[in-house]
Amino acid sequence: MRRVAHVAAVLAGTAVGMLLGAPVLAADAAAGKKIYDSICADCHELKDHAGKPAADLEKSLKAIVARQKKHKKQLHLDDVQIADVAAYLSTAK
Ligand code: HEC
Repeated sequence: MRRVAHVAAVLAGTAVGMLLGAPVLAADAAAGKKIYDSICADCHELKDHAGKPAADLEKSLKAIVARQKKHKKQLHLDDVQIADVAAYLSTAK
């Protein structure tokens, strides 16, 4: 019985991991471009952030969204949108 519970817990953990991991793996640069063009391009030029590592961009954007970092415009993006924008910028030139 205990063993069954353990297996179930491991399977549940894997499923959660896959759910949490999926948006990051599937970061959609095309969706990120749309967000960037509609919100960010008012103030930013692509070269401000193009080619920066996605992980660094995500960290900065999360800090801005969480109001831990000052930014001229308060951003309201969810984690998937942040990953998409980061994917777009990191691969943009
Ligand atoms: C109203 C103008 C404005 C808009 C809109 C804007 N930004 Fe910014 N952003 C700035 C300015 C000015 C700076 C540099 C000074 C600062 O941090 O306030 C900046 C800084 C940044 C930084 C660097 C922060 C750091 O210090 O690590 C990132 C990353 C960034 N912006 C991303 C974005 C993204 C992505 C969007 C769109 C979702 C966006 N910005 C929209 C004006 C803007």
